[in-house]
Amino acid sequence: MSEILNAIKANQQRFLDELFDLLRIPSVSADTKFADDVKKAAEFVAQKLKEAGADKVELCSTPGFPIVYGEKIIDEKLPTVLVYGHYDVQPADPYELWDSPPFEPVVKDGKIFARGSADDKGQMYMHVKAFEILMKQNSLPCNIKFMIEGEEEVGSENLENFVKANLEKLKSDVVLISDTSMISNEEPSITTGLRGLSYLEVEITGPNRDLHSGVYGGAVANPINILCDMISKLHDEKRKITIPGFYEDVETVSAEERAEMAKAPFNQAEYNADLGIKKELGEDGFTTLERVSIRPTLDVNGIWGGYIGQGAKTVLPSKAYAKISMRLVPNQSSEKITKLFTEYFLKAAPEYVQVKVTPMHGGEAAVTPTNSIAYQAAAKAIEATYGKAPIPLRTGGSIPIVTMFEKVLGTKSVLLGFGLDSDSIHSPNEHYGVWNYFKGIETIPYFLKYFTEMSK
Ligand code: BES
Ligand code: MN
Ligand code: MN
Repeated sequence: MSEILNAIKANQQRFLDELFDLLRIPSVSADTKFADDVKKAAEFVAQKLKEAGADKVELCSTPGFPIVYGEKIIDEKLPTVLVYGHYDVQPADPYELWDSPPFEPVVKDGKIFARGSADDKGQMYMHVKAFEILMKQNSLPCNIKFMIEGEEEVGSENLENFVKANLEKLKSDVVLISDTSMISNEEPSITTGLRGLSYLEVEITGPNRDLHSGVYGGAVANPINILCDMISKLHDEKRKITIPGFYEDVETVSAEERAEMAKAPFNQAEYNADLGIKKELGEDGFTTLERVSIRPTLDVNGIWGGYIGQGAKTVLPSKAYAKISMRLVPNQSSEKITKLFTEYFLKAAPEYVQVKVTPMHGGEAAVTPTNSIAYQAAAKAIEATYGKAPIPLRTGGSIPIVTMFEKVLGTKSVLLGFGLDSDSIHSPNEHYGVWNYFKGIETIPYFLKYFTEMSK
């Protein structure tokens, strides 16, 4: 398939320029201030799909942001691959920690720096460009459908209804997703498991108004102090989560599978050095790789209240807030965990304060089989372009729609991601390797080819 490589070489600059145009659109789905830009990004993707040769391209409206659909059916008898990706991005905050503005992409040290470069615009757009090449060369080996959404980063709230209403349209043999990472460019891997998620916000109310912290301090419960007490009790000294029933449904991973996992290349000292930490911390009895894949967790994602502006202000605040995420593993139910947390947190609240818990979003964990045609085809594709067989690996992030597709469409996904954990997704200075971008464009056609051949 050297024609693919030639096409990539011949179009290198344009492929980068187009991605840069997409990255310049601040399609932050979480912040209504960017609503117009989110729609602009949808239109951009639809336009590019059309130009690449997709039929029936449409912006399917939802109560939230539109879902971009497009397809190329070359022969009903051939397999159909449904490409899923997202054009929305996480907020870029805190802006001051970026070395260059998040929506003004630049290449530095061979990496594209911009919000969404790796998650997921850069990875999603590889599919559009791979498709364009195959169309131009008249060598698309199978049918292809695209479903690119704009609400992934806020919980894909409208996707399930869309899928349910479009079962026939979305019918396919496999869902192909590039929205995950690999161990490294030298050690390719394929994600075989994702964690589930339960995300909620808590609000603690103390006195009915902010108070002078000298006049009242010492006599009235400070909701921030109380919130900190409550949060600190959510883990015990072994870093186990203390919510009763939290581990009840957690699947025990066999000693064999854990031994298999331990073979993945991993260096704790390098990991710590990369993160600038002296020592790692996690649940007793598990390795770092296990802690971020087969074990559930609870983390505060944000905490605020009182005065956080410049200088000092002596205030005993009326309210304190925290956003909390729990990462879940197969067999745990996001709904049940949300309920257990809520009950426990409400009960744990001392009488001096009032507590409110608001569930935000969630989703179930996913494990993808390695004995499927789709996985085998993906592994073969990676081997063809990386020169090395990929390692199957469960990772810690969540893509809740994977389980939803399985439930609603009855279709399994293959997680063919080309990012790296060090891409700083969701963080300042998010980046995506130029090499990874083109490697993805090169590998995707192999997947389509092998999947078609192996499906026969
Ligand atoms: N692409 C990520 C998920 C991911 C990243 C999986 C890296 C594996 C490795 C996705 O966009 C994401 O951020 N998902 C959210 C969940 C969603 C419900 C907001 C997450 O994992 O926090
Ligand atoms: Mn993503
Ligand atoms: Mn994300």
